[in-house]
Amino acid sequence: MSLIDAASAVRKNAYVPYSKFKVGAALRTKSGALFAGCNVENVAYPEGTCAEAGAIAAMVAGGETEIAEIAVIADSPMPLTPCGGCRQKIFEFAVPGAVIILATVNGDQKTMAVADLLPGAFVKAHMDKA
Ligand code: THU
Repeated sequence: MSLIDAASAVRKNAYVPYSKFKVGAALRTKSGALFAGCNVENVAYPEGTCAEAGAIAAMVAGGETEIAEIAVIADSPMPLTPCGGCRQKIFEFAVPGAVIILATVNGDQKTMAVADLLPGAFVKAHMDKA
């Protein structure tokens, strides 16, 4: 199954009573395993948990930590780009050269390199004097 197809399939399970905006994400790890996640909202935190964060949580729960490729899909006028918090999460787990595929349900698609996702990212080395 392609990553876009997996992201599109899991998107249907998104739990979005507040925003009504369904997002699906699927990632492939360096080992070739596929993990998926959708956004999940709740009354205390109506912004909920992003689809990308869900896919990353599934990956970590599955014992893997290296993202080779991640796809995100939504029904938006232009391909949605990951929010700030998700950029940090993707950045931290992505292998060098990882690809981010951003898609709409209408077939628009663009790709981003992980290096372009979060310029000037906060990294572990910033804490080297701690
Ligand atoms: N959302 C995602 O799942 N991924 C993003 O990158 C941006 C936003 C979700 C969170 C919330 O459920 C809804 O979209 C509106 O913010």
